[in-house]
Amino acid sequence: MSESRNEAAATGAGLSRRGFLKGALAGAGAISFGSYEAVAQMVGGPSVRGWGVPPGLVRIDSNENALGPSPRAVEAVLSLVTSINRYGQNPNLLGKLARRHSVPVVEWTDSPFAPVPDAWIAVGAGSSDLLFAIGHAYIREGTEVVESLPGFGFITRFAGVANAEPVRVPLLEGMKPDLDGLSAAVTDRTAMVVVTSPGNPTGQLTPMSMLKPFVESIPERVLVLVDEAYIEFAENEADREGAASLIADHPNVIVTRTFSKVFGMAGMRVGYAVARPEIIARIGQHRANTLTLLSTHAAAAALDDTDHLRRSQELVSRGKRYFYEQLDAMGIEYAPSESSFVMMDMKTDVDELVRRLREDHNVLVGNARARWNIEGWIRVTAGLPEENEAFIAALKKVLVSS
Ligand SMILES: Cc1ncc(COP(=O)(O)O)c(C=O)c1O
Repeated sequence: MSESRNEAAATGAGLSRRGFLKGALAGAGAISFGSYEAVAQMVGGPSVRGWGVPPGLVRIDSNENALGPSPRAVEAVLSLVTSINRYGQNPNLLGKLARRHSVPVVEWTDSPFAPVPDAWIAVGAGSSDLLFAIGHAYIREGTEVVESLPGFGFITRFAGVANAEPVRVPLLEGMKPDLDGLSAAVTDRTAMVVVTSPGNPTGQLTPMSMLKPFVESIPERVLVLVDEAYIEFAENEADREGAASLIADHPNVIVTRTFSKVFGMAGMRVGYAVARPEIIARIGQHRANTLTLLSTHAAAAALDDTDHLRRSQELVSRGKRYFYEQLDAMGIEYAPSESSFVMMDMKTDVDELVRRLREDHNVLVGNARARWNIEGWIRVTAGLPEENEAFIAALKKVLVSS
């Protein structure tokens, strides 16, 4: 059999595999979820539902993007899979991120070993890679780290490891962060204050009108870390700009972002931090070379796909509206959210509720009692419409029979 006939047999479609992929990906640009499924099947993945999600499982517990990654990111990865024998990185990613946040543009080369002086951006393997590096660089034994409780808590957990003191400031009514309380908790020993906006698990945004005076209230020797993992889901376009613009006047501000949420690349591991070059350089001294050729190209490609960004935002906002309507009808309270998930007050034994949703209905939701000690609440990520419906249907059954 000739080589081309072999290829045709392999794809089963009378097309070369490369041509087949090109066609699939061109089709995938056409938006619908159906075409994402087509991409997933054509590139040999089981489904666009993603890793660890067999058919029938509704996984809405981890704030992942149910739409999948941008087809452009998929294309970038596929085009480089045979090149991973070399060290390398996308030379455009750093500059693209700098332009995105209107900070001075410093370009990368295609080698991860070339020095990058004066960068205002550090890219890491997920934003948690950078949170770890920030903790490692700035939190010393005997210092204090201030953060809301409940909250994401990565940095305060790190403080425990470094023999520093985590200072947790309870949320206000409506799960809002107590900015005055966070500010008042700063002492001579404070190394860092953390604001997660929107918060996890709260979903509450800290708008610039509140963040700016808060930052002004913090002494310049204390770092203010603004974790914006979910900021692209903020209701108002202006809020999605985030806090990077504060850095010009406040050299103690660090902003972190991730490709794991709205960009749908949690498994790829890319995140970044924006800060003054002195801070970025210091963070860099506490990181290994954790980026990959594939992850940096996927991220650079994803940044160009404004359609995918908009579809992901719409999916989440439609999902949350559906949750609100259904919960209102059922008389269940919730915290309206500016993130990709909603906290819901079940006023019941949520260990049992979460167990029954999982075991009887194949629906995974976040147990806020187990994870953050919030009695009676669950945290539910907005998924695909059919996943959201499956959750609500299962919830009704479990509540009726309990
Ligand atoms: C508030 C917040 N920050 C940071 C992260 C870390 O995400 P990643 O390391 O995937 O960028 C998460 C992940 O869930 C998060 O919820």
